[in-house]
Amino acid sequence: MASTTPAGLQIRPRHLDFNLPSPLPRHWHGGDAFKTHLFDAMSVLFPDGERFFIDSVRQFRDQISDPILKEQIRGFIGQEGHHSREHLEYSNRLRELGYDIGTIERRAQARIRFTQKKFSPERQLAATAALEHITAILADGLLKNPKALDGAIPQMSRLWRWHALEETEHKAVAFDVYNQVCGSRKLLRRAMLMGTFFFVFDTSRGMLHMLKEDGLLWNWRLWRDGLQWTWGKQGIFRPLIGAYLDFFKAGFHPWQHNNLDLLEQFRDEFEPPVSAAA
Ligand SMILES: [Fe+2]
Ligand SMILES: [Fe+2]
Repeated sequence: MASTTPAGLQIRPRHLDFNLPSPLPRHWHGGDAFKTHLFDAMSVLFPDGERFFIDSVRQFRDQISDPILKEQIRGFIGQEGHHSREHLEYSNRLRELGYDIGTIERRAQARIRFTQKKFSPERQLAATAALEHITAILADGLLKNPKALDGAIPQMSRLWRWHALEETEHKAVAFDVYNQVCGSRKLLRRAMLMGTFFFVFDTSRGMLHMLKEDGLLWNWRLWRDGLQWTWGKQGIFRPLIGAYLDFFKAGFHPWQHNNLDLLEQFRDEFEPPVSAAA
């Protein structure tokens, strides 16, 4: 079977305008610098990262004959294209606050250029499938756990929920394309180890820069509370560890983590019910 995304699941981009405030409140996540800059640092990586995902999948588009998977690829490209644009707008708000976003972007772009020049198209796609799993489990955590965005300004909550919703919808597309055109699990696991390293490294680096700019880098209370919020007993990242490790299991597929119920729950926020739209 070419595509194992649940039958009937539509993957379509939603055209939304988030009206992010300008200037953006420096600590828009409940006045908390740690929480805010964790999200900010991930966001800055998305515009280039998601364009890389699109390019990786596009290289194999012509080799896919299954009409359902072809349609899903179209939806995936549309959704990631929109994410990329909205997060670029977000980056511009961070630039306005004086953070050196250009340096973070240039580093990410250099790494992507290196990957595209030196790695085979199959390895690029493996990296995409791996990073899509990371975004999928982060998205699942964000939608499931109200703590993740508790206290954030509404425009930001909405933007992140929209992104998490669409990441969940298309979480298996790159994976299914990879299975069709290559399928090596060894390559996929290696890509995951490398992808995890650079994702954590780049996110941490971005966060450190923003905290330093805020004069909060050596604030021990910020680190204590922030690490508690992420990795503590009730931490938002704790429940994701098992789902992350599942990727390394033989025969893993993203929809083995069936969270269709979350899609049902959050879709209405962005798409009015048919009767209301008619
Ligand atoms: Fe995305
Ligand atoms: Fe994605």
